[in-house]
Amino acid sequence: MNVFVTGGTGYIGSHTCVELLEAGHSVVVADNLVNSSPESLRRVEKLTGKAVPFYNADIRDRDALNRIFDQYSFDCAIHFAGLKAVGESVEQPLRYYRNNLDSTMTLMEVMGDRGVKNILFSSSATVYSQDNTMPLTEESRTGGCTNPYGWTKFMCEEIMRSTAKADGEWSVMLLRYFNPVGAHPSGLMGEDPRGIPNNLMPFITQTAAGRRDHLNVFGNDYPTPDGTGVRDYIHVVDLAKGHVAAMQYMAEHRGTHVFNLGTGTGYSVLDMVHAFEKATGKPLPYKIAPRRPGDVAVVYADPSKSEKLLGWKAELDLEDMCRDSWNWQSHNPNGYGEEEK
Ligand code: NAD
Ligand code: UD1
Repeated sequence: MNVFVTGGTGYIGSHTCVELLEAGHSVVVADNLVNSSPESLRRVEKLTGKAVPFYNADIRDRDALNRIFDQYSFDCAIHFAGLKAVGESVEQPLRYYRNNLDSTMTLMEVMGDRGVKNILFSSSATVYSQDNTMPLTEESRTGGCTNPYGWTKFMCEEIMRSTAKADGEWSVMLLRYFNPVGAHPSGLMGEDPRGIPNNLMPFITQTAAGRRDHLNVFGNDYPTPDGTGVRDYIHVVDLAKGHVAAMQYMAEHRGTHVFNLGTGTGYSVLDMVHAFEKATGKPLPYKIAPRRPGDVAVVYADPSKSEKLLGWKAELDLEDMCRDSWNWQSHNPNGYGEEEK
């Protein structure tokens, strides 16, 4: 298939481009580079030996999208483009609502005009309410989000669902990611966060690399086996392969379909620290700190629907995630950039 990939220079988008190209699909990427570098696509080209046309464009820019759609005949789009920092979304809600909602609506309007009515969307486990029991199935309650970022994902899901309900030609795949970590095993591609990372794995790798003094473990008094928070970490290459499987399913099923992309296994913060120490062979300095506001004790997926209907299942384990994250960080201490950050 010929795939229009928004946000394709970013962390998950770039890894998905590799898997799409290796599965024989072709991709065209548009990204405004607000949180990424075009160098990621050069690495995709290096790994796959295939060209990746790139457009430096904002997905809210209808004229720019029309110019791209004039040049290609797409079968579907994967919509990764979006702002994703939870804390920033609390400080700048309008920027988040404007960016994430407008880009989704403009993209769907342009696609609809052209009769390209197949879309996969990067949703998140953050759309699930906090009062659910674990594991989370696709039927678990949603809503009650604790921050504007979460609401944008919830609202985009609704926008897509309503559109597919009104026009039966649409196929919409709402993919709810759990906690993506890891990097391409080649060491050529990985996560390249700007500034001080908020998420656990990039903070761990930067601490191991000596860029941060120590890791703060946010709370050790949760009702979990070791008292620290438990999450469903999924290797980004497994996640990327999930998109290839979901695209196939979309081609054969109209309407709206929701899938969890997780492993079904929860690991604690200290499990992550110890697995990382094992992968790098050196101790990781950490201190117990107060709980982070808004955090919950345990989140993990029931991925059985994805396994049954998509024929997809995460294959890589915690050791792979830690080894590949470290391989990327140690070979690219400044990510895709040249300068020290
Ligand atoms: P990322 O920031 O690396 O990638 C997102 C890309 O979108 C960036 O390259 C950014 O420059 C681009 N972008 C943002 N707004 C844009 C706009 N208006 N026009 C064009 N490009 C724009 O993030 P990621 O981790 O690769 O996440 C990809 C998607 O998955 C996002 O929608 C994110 O919310 C979602 N998601 C991520 C996670 C995670 O933990 N990484 C979890 C759940 C869902
Ligand atoms: C974060 C986002 C969530 C998003 C998810 C998947 C927040 C509040 N939530 O959730 O919206 O869907 O990522 O990408 O950012 N931790 C530490 N020390 C750190 C960083 C994290 O102990 O320096 C702990 C956290 O308390 C948590 C675990 O590590 O228990 C994972 O944290 P993080 O990587 O931020 O992911 P989530 O909290 O699951």
